[in-house]
Amino acid sequence: MKPLDYRDRTLTCDGVALADVAAKAGTPCYVYSAATILANYRAYEDALQGAPHTVCYAMKANGNLAILRLLARAGAGFDIVSGGELHRVLKAGGDPAKVVFSGVGKTAEEIDAALAAGIFAFNCESEPELALVDALAHRRGVKARVALRVNPDVDAATHAYISTGSLAHKFGIDIGEAEAVYERARQHANLLLEGVSCHIGSQQFDFDPMLQAADRVLELIVCLRAKGFSIRHVDLGGGLGIAYKPDDPAPPIGEFATALREKVAGQGLHLFLEPGRSIVGDAGVLLARVLYRKKGGEKEFVIVDAAMNDLIRPALYDAHHEILPLRATQGCGLRADVVGPVCESGDFLAQDRQMPDVFPGDLLAVCTAGAYGFVQASNYNARPRPAEVLIEDGSWRVIRARESLDDLIRGEE
Ligand code: LLP
Repeated sequence: MKPLDYRDRTLTCDGVALADVAAKAGTPCYVYSAATILANYRAYEDALQGAPHTVCYAMKANGNLAILRLLARAGAGFDIVSGGELHRVLKAGGDPAKVVFSGVGKTAEEIDAALAAGIFAFNCESEPELALVDALAHRRGVKARVALRVNPDVDAATHAYISTGSLAHKFGIDIGEAEAVYERARQHANLLLEGVSCHIGSQQFDFDPMLQAADRVLELIVCLRAKGFSIRHVDLGGGLGIAYKPDDPAPPIGEFATALREKVAGQGLHLFLEPGRSIVGDAGVLLARVLYRKKGGEKEFVIVDAAMNDLIRPALYDAHHEILPLRATQGCGLRADVVGPVCESGDFLAQDRQMPDVFPGDLLAVCTAGAYGFVQASNYNARPRPAEVLIEDGSWRVIRARESLDDLIRGEE
C-alpha cells in the first residue's frame, strides 16, 4: 500500500488520482507504480552492494513487458519458468546472461530456446532433466551451466499451495540425495555443475526457515567442493512476504537480503536471489466499480465489476487484500462480502469485510495486487482480461490494453 495516499479525499497513487485513471482506462484495471517497483528492486541492490550478486526478478509475479523493461534497465536479472517467460524477457530487452531458468517440467523446446539465448543457468530439478539439458547442449555444441535445485526439507510455514521446500512437494531433489546426483552428473560432459539452488516457498515472514535452508545448502556446497566440484554460485530463491494487512509482520527487504548476504559471505560464492512478490506486490492495485448492492438473509453483498477471473488470490488462497474507496468516506459502517459477477460462490474479493459504506457507481481499489494478480487472470465466464496501467514520473499510460470481445475468440474455429 506504499504508493497510495488520500489527497483532497481522493485516493492517489504517486500523486495521480486513481479516479482519473478509472474514468479513462475503465474498470476493472490494474495500476502499478514504477517508483515503488524500482524502490523495492533497489532495496535488494543496496543491501547486496559490494557482495557478488545478481537479483533475478521472478517474473511469474508480474510479466508485463513495460515492467520487465523497467527492471531490465535498472540492471535486474530474471528468474523464468517457461519458454513464454523467456520470450517476454528477450522482448523486453532483458540480458539473457542474467537469466536463471527454474521449474520441474521444462520441455525440450524450452530448454533449447534457453540454450540458444545463452541464459546464465538452469536450475535443474531431476536427473532426467539433467540428461536432457546435457543432450541438447551437446547438439548445439555449447556447455550449459547448471545448479541442482535441492529440496532442503524445511517447512516454510506459509500457505500449503505456495510452500515448496518439504519432501512432500514436487520441487527439487532431496538434499540427502544431492551429492550422489552431482556425482552421477559428472558423466554429462556438456554440463557445468557450478551452482546449487533452492526455493522453499512464498509469502514468508520468518527468516528462520530460509536461513535454515541456506545452512543446509551451504553444508552441501562444502561437501561438493571437497569432492572436486567447483561450485561458484548459490541461488537462494525468492519468498519474502509482504504486508497485505497493515499489521502483517513483513520484514523490510534490506533486512532479508542482508541476512542472506551475511550467511554466504566469505565463501567465494556469487549469490543469486529470485524475489517476485516483494518487488511488485505493494506496487499495484486493482480498480473496480460497484455495480449493485443487495442483501441475502443476514448478509450484505457489494457486487463489483472485478471478479475471481481478474484476481484469483482471495478465492484460491483465502488471501486478504485491503479494499479502499477512491473517494474517502467517513467510518466503516458496512459489513459485506465484496463479490464479482462470476457464477461461483467462490467468486469473492473479500468476505465479511468491515468497510466504508459504498454505493453503485463508486470506485474501489483492491490493494497490494501487483504480484500474482494479472498473471493469474483468466477469461472465465468469457470475461476480457483487464487493462494494465503504469504510473511513471507523474503521469500514467496503458501498458496493456483491455482485451476486446474479439480477443476472446481469437484462434477459434
Ligand atoms: N523462485 C521460484 C523457483 C519460485 O517458484 C517462486 C514463486 C519465486 C522464486 C518467487 O517467489 P516470491 O518472491 O514471489 O515469493 N500465486 C501465489 C504465489 C506462487 C509462488 C510461486 N513461486 C500467490 O498468489 O501467492
